[in-house]
Amino acid sequence: LLLALIGVVVEGVVVGPSRRVLDLDGGLANAEHVLEARGVEVAREGALGDFDAVVVRSRTRLTREALATGARGRLVCVGRAGVGVDNIDIDACRDFGIVVLNTPGASSNAVAELAISHVLASARHTVSADRAVRAGDFARFKREARGTEVRGSTLGIVGYGRIGRAVERVALALGMRVKKSGAPLADIFETCDFVSVHCALSDRTRNLIDRDLLRKMKGGHLVNTARGGVVREDDVVEALEQGWLATYATDVFEVEPPPPDHPLLHRDDVLLSPHIGAATVEAQARVSTQLAASILAFFEQGTARCG
Ligand code: MLT
Repeated sequence: LLLALIGVVVEGVVVGPSRRVLDLDGGLANAEHVLEARGVEVAREGALGDFDAVVVRSRTRLTREALATGARGRLVCVGRAGVGVDNIDIDACRDFGIVVLNTPGASSNAVAELAISHVLASARHTVSADRAVRAGDFARFKREARGTEVRGSTLGIVGYGRIGRAVERVALALGMRVKKSGAPLADIFETCDFVSVHCALSDRTRNLIDRDLLRKMKGGHLVNTARGGVVREDDVVEALEQGWLATYATDVFEVEPPPPDHPLLHRDDVLLSPHIGAATVEAQARVSTQLAASILAFFEQGTARCG
């Protein structure tokens, strides 16, 4: 009876009360079998209160109300298959004693590579070039196109965590100079040809990049693979119109997906991608595997092991 109540591991397989995980956005897709092999049931739908853990990606918001409902049942753990936890009410998790696990290192390289790809695409106008060729504008675009080389230019990195550091490594390999947070933000915006945003969204960083900073730029390029809310989108539009900014390349939006009439969707000087920073085969495999291991460690040992 005692074994059935607490659950024990016999030859790697958990016996006893079975744990249940609700994988709402498919974040565990590559590692369901790891959990199932240890006796954990994984479902794609159901009521939060019927599960010990819920796993989300950025698509699903876990509000205080939803978490309260879960905590009234058996919910004790939230797994974020990714880095940012801005879609989860962390204060509510704390109040209800719900542990939050994420995978901070798993997708850093993927996001960094997308940021650098946006830097290069901004410098060489490759998205406009693609549109021009498809529209039969080959000769005009070729005649008028004047890109810039990134070698010798300066990249400002706002947010110097795992992703910011990965971006720095590639940028240095491309021959760019790098300025990173630590330097005053005003100085970064005043002196850099490219600025790439890599800070988490929090009360402190919401709308951090606004008109006051953008007007310091001298026709440079802004890249955002962090969160839409870090940048004031209306101010970006003004900065493009005023020529303070030459281009804005973004993977993220304040509201996702952005509404069809969103001004950023209708400008040639804006490069858009649909929040795919972590969407590589390699990163998603790492995210699933790391999160499954953390959830198992939490279930079996009561420890919260992240990234
Ligand atoms: C992250 O926070 O991990 C990335 O933005 C990707 C995602 O939201 O899934």
